[in-house]
Amino acid sequence: MSTENAPREKGPVAVVTGGSSGIGAAIARSLARRGWQLVLLARGEERLIEVASEVGAEHEACDVADRAEVERVAKAVRERHPAIGLLVNNAGIPGGGGFLDLDPEQIEAIVRTNYLGSVWCLRTFLPALEAGAPADLVNIASVAGTIAAGYSGPYSASKHAQLAFSRSVGVELAGSGITVHTIIPGFIDTPGFPNRSRFRTRLLQGLVAGPELVAEQVVRAVERNRLEQFVPRWYRPAAIVQATAPALLARAARAGAVRRKRK
Ligand SMILES: NC(=O)c1ccc[n+]([C@@H]2O[C@H](COP(=O)([O-])OP(=O)(O)OC[C@H]3O[C@@H](n4cnc5c(N)ncnc54)[C@H](OP(=O)(O)O)[C@@H]3O)[C@@H](O)[C@H]2O)c1
Repeated sequence: MSTENAPREKGPVAVVTGGSSGIGAAIARSLARRGWQLVLLARGEERLIEVASEVGAEHEACDVADRAEVERVAKAVRERHPAIGLLVNNAGIPGGGGFLDLDPEQIEAIVRTNYLGSVWCLRTFLPALEAGAPADLVNIASVAGTIAAGYSGPYSASKHAQLAFSRSVGVELAGSGITVHTIIPGFIDTPGFPNRSRFRTRLLQGLVAGPELVAEQVVRAVERNRLEQFVPRWYRPAAIVQATAPALLARAARAGAVRRKRK
């Protein structure tokens, strides 16, 4: 744990998982600018220490996929901060393959990190959120959790599960003083998901946003009590197509897959 560069004025405490890179680091920067005291969690300490010292945060090395470790770390954080105002479940890993080609261990890691990690973090930080109520929980889901078009199936399934967790637990916590917000980003360019280099044409690269946009929407969701937000907004119709015309989407995705296999 590091407390160097601690903020001079003490605002409420926010815990951000995956705060050492990409979207989590952008969220940490946005929250720090608004005076939040931050505790950043991630596995690798090098990047974690770098971002933590930049924004004046505390940090804890923690693998959110490891339930015992999450309990141990959350206990240590709760001893320093018995009340927290915000938990951001952001830690996540990409899939990079399908159900039939990824190693079983990779599929398990995706589920443990992207879905169960959010569950364990909420459960272990819940007493601190209750003590800090009114408080907020933000889950960083994904457009891949609203549509399943074949590519990166295990990742998409983990994000479907996390989205269902987020929506369900929002109801479980109704009236508790803890508001649950679900942020649903599309393609965002980050170290873990280098989406800009993935697309060749300028048109497709235009689909990719920066992590700062997600951070802005996280802050806006909390400040304006928005429960669910696609980032950018225009990804929402994709979820509508999945829900209203699933067979059409399945036919188009399968035809695309066959074309790719023939190439
Ligand atoms: N980028 C996109 O296009 C996109 C779109 C939709 C949703 N999302 C979601 O946004 C979140 C952040 O992704 P990102 O794009 O910012 O990726 P990123 O740049 O790779 O950042 C991921 C962060 O999560 C941490 N992390 C990964 N596994 C962890 C674990 N088991 N325990 C604790 N921390 C862990 C990483 O640090 P360590 O590796 O050191 O642990 C890092 O800080 C993910 O949940 C992702 O699914 C991303």
